[in-house]
Amino acid sequence: MNTHFAHMELNEAINHKTSQFYDDVIAGLRSTPKRLNSKYFYDANGDKLFQELMSCPEYYPTKCELEIFSKRTAEICKKMIADGDAFELIELGAGDAMKSTCLLQYLLEQKADFTYIPIDISENVISYLNISLPLTLPGIKINGLNGEYFDMLKQAASNSGKRKVVLFLGSNIGNMPVDKAIDFCSYLRRHLSKGDMALMGIDLQKNPKTVLAAYNDQGGITKRFNLNLLTRINRELNANFELTKFDHYPTYDPETGACKSYLVSLQDQEVIINGKEKVQFLKDEYIYMEISQKFTVLQTEQMAEKAGFKPVDRFFDSKKWFVDAVWIAG
Ligand code: AVJ
Repeated sequence: MNTHFAHMELNEAINHKTSQFYDDVIAGLRSTPKRLNSKYFYDANGDKLFQELMSCPEYYPTKCELEIFSKRTAEICKKMIADGDAFELIELGAGDAMKSTCLLQYLLEQKADFTYIPIDISENVISYLNISLPLTLPGIKINGLNGEYFDMLKQAASNSGKRKVVLFLGSNIGNMPVDKAIDFCSYLRRHLSKGDMALMGIDLQKNPKTVLAAYNDQGGITKRFNLNLLTRINRELNANFELTKFDHYPTYDPETGACKSYLVSLQDQEVIINGKEKVQFLKDEYIYMEISQKFTVLQTEQMAEKAGFKPVDRFFDSKKWFVDAVWIAG
């Protein structure tokens, strides 16, 4: 897709990240069916909308995981502390670290010897954590990294010979379909050593209405969250999407556990990106925006085994809607 680079002479000062964003957006909108990558949801406004989403009544995953972390803190942290040797606590997709703060606080109280390494795609989030966490959690050693999971994991994993504990919470793993999620876990395993641990927060299959409602909230936050990516493309890539000409369409398929969201074009229209890339939309044509895969407990354990982990413990919320699974690298 490097051909698109050539079209960018207009913005010479544009940085590498933006070129990647541009290339991905053009490639996605040129493919059939059209798609955009949900990792681009998280600009400053997207971060804010996601925070709003986490506290809306329908979005249950955060509430479930917080329940697990507040009721089972000691047990979970005991697994992380293990024999008491120093470890690196790497969190993939830390966001505002609200969920992990519960654990961090307890670990500090226990005088556990660890460095917290949050990794997030949002620049905004990482600079915030590096500044705010030492204030809310005095004594914490923190080294936040801004970038993609894969690149930053490589960096974080090569940092020291210390034991590693990886947090992958909030069902972030659900943003990949099952086969990709297995590949991801295998990749994660390859960056760890035997005995290292992963704490995986995974959303489970449940009543389809409950799942769908979480991605179709009455307040319309999910809709704004999706549309915000078009706003981001308008601003960062000089495009002219008109938000009122797209509608949010969430789906959940209980047979596969795939919860997917789309933006549907409400009329025939043309959008111009960077002043020259023309993209045509037919009325009712969709853009595939996001998958939030829901798993069975069995699937999560098969995923662990296939990726070279041993699933050794599971912590559920009282409704059994969500699991925090402890996997040990085998
Ligand atoms: C942050 C990826 C876990 O898929 O549930 C929330 C993002 N999308 N509502 C999810 C999201 C729509 C969320 N993850």
